[in-house]
Amino acid sequence: MKDIQSKVIKAFADRYSAEPSVIAKAPGRINLIGEHTDYNLGLVLPAAIDRYMLFALRANHTDTCRIHALDINESVEIKLDNLEKGDQLWANYLRGVLLQFKERDISLDGFDCVFSSTIPIGSGLSSSAALDCGFIKGVSALHQSSLSNWDIVTISNQSNNNYLNVQSGILDQFSSVFGKKDQCMMMDCKTRDYQYHSLDLGAYCLVLINTNVKHENVTSGYNDRPSECKEVVRLLRVYDESVESLRDIDLVLLDKYKDHLSQTLYNRTRFIIEENERVRSFVSAMEDKDYIRMGTLLLESHKGLQELYEVSCSELDLLVELAMKEANVLGSRMMGGGFGGCTLNLMRRDEVDEVVRRVSNAYKESTGINSVMYQVNLEDGLSIL
Ligand code: GLA
Repeated sequence: MKDIQSKVIKAFADRYSAEPSVIAKAPGRINLIGEHTDYNLGLVLPAAIDRYMLFALRANHTDTCRIHALDINESVEIKLDNLEKGDQLWANYLRGVLLQFKERDISLDGFDCVFSSTIPIGSGLSSSAALDCGFIKGVSALHQSSLSNWDIVTISNQSNNNYLNVQSGILDQFSSVFGKKDQCMMMDCKTRDYQYHSLDLGAYCLVLINTNVKHENVTSGYNDRPSECKEVVRLLRVYDESVESLRDIDLVLLDKYKDHLSQTLYNRTRFIIEENERVRSFVSAMEDKDYIRMGTLLLESHKGLQELYEVSCSELDLLVELAMKEANVLGSRMMGGGFGGCTLNLMRRDEVDEVVRRVSNAYKESTGINSVMYQVNLEDGLSIL
């Protein structure tokens, strides 16, 4: 932590010949279970992790934001009166949130900024939510504006939905903002109520294994799922007006109206109903320290994501299959939006190196791709240092 902080401060001083006046830190996240449920107003169980983005900022008394992405050595100058999209995706995330400030009539002055990250990009650990939330927190602190944590979540979510046209929910931002050391959080995306739960895994631990592939692109993949779910709501509301989201559909209702849905839409809905149920079961298994049950639920979640929700891919399925061949692995599943990224594995702590070595070797042999393993700890959320 100190390393990256001094690196960012030094880079800031080198570039702008001044000390930053604000430093904001935003972590990445894992999600134990409850995948694709967020935009369906269901249940999620995420946690913030000890991988994060750090932003150093200082007012420059102009109308321009000069921003430098240290890790990739790229810079942009954004004029506050021109927030049109540019070529670099990372800078468009920042433009999107600046536009949200504008739409809320929060007036901003120009500033200089350097940021750096320890979150692997594109691996499903929500580096983009950390990018948004850390930047929003830093800019807001610099202007002494009093945005609440939920404002920060909403600004990022609306920027994603409206500016970047990514129809994601609030899982990632919520996790990065509200995370707490050694705790995971069960959140109800309909009411936004949440509770912290200690994560005591006994002799077990969580290990992420990155497939190192990403099949999705901006126009296909993730966004299809929110559209399909909206279509289910539109079709079923004709018969039952109380249906406002997939959260309002249970298996009885689904069964009653199943003839009005295609097989695909039926499968999507069934997955969401069952996944919400799995979140509740996982929390009780966690309270009972029933690690075997937790592992089983992870695997069931993966099967649902693979077969019913269809957001997995062959590399994720292979990593799960290889992990489940190991006696010391209790459960494994794809994590996050899907189409690549990481699997989340529950395995014996003292066997991690051996298990990961065997799984990675077999993965490499069959795909030719090197996977990467991360062990993460649960950490506090968004803060000003
Ligand atoms: C991505 C999205 C989240 C959520 C997950 C799947 O991380 O950004 O909003 O939908 O996928 O659970």
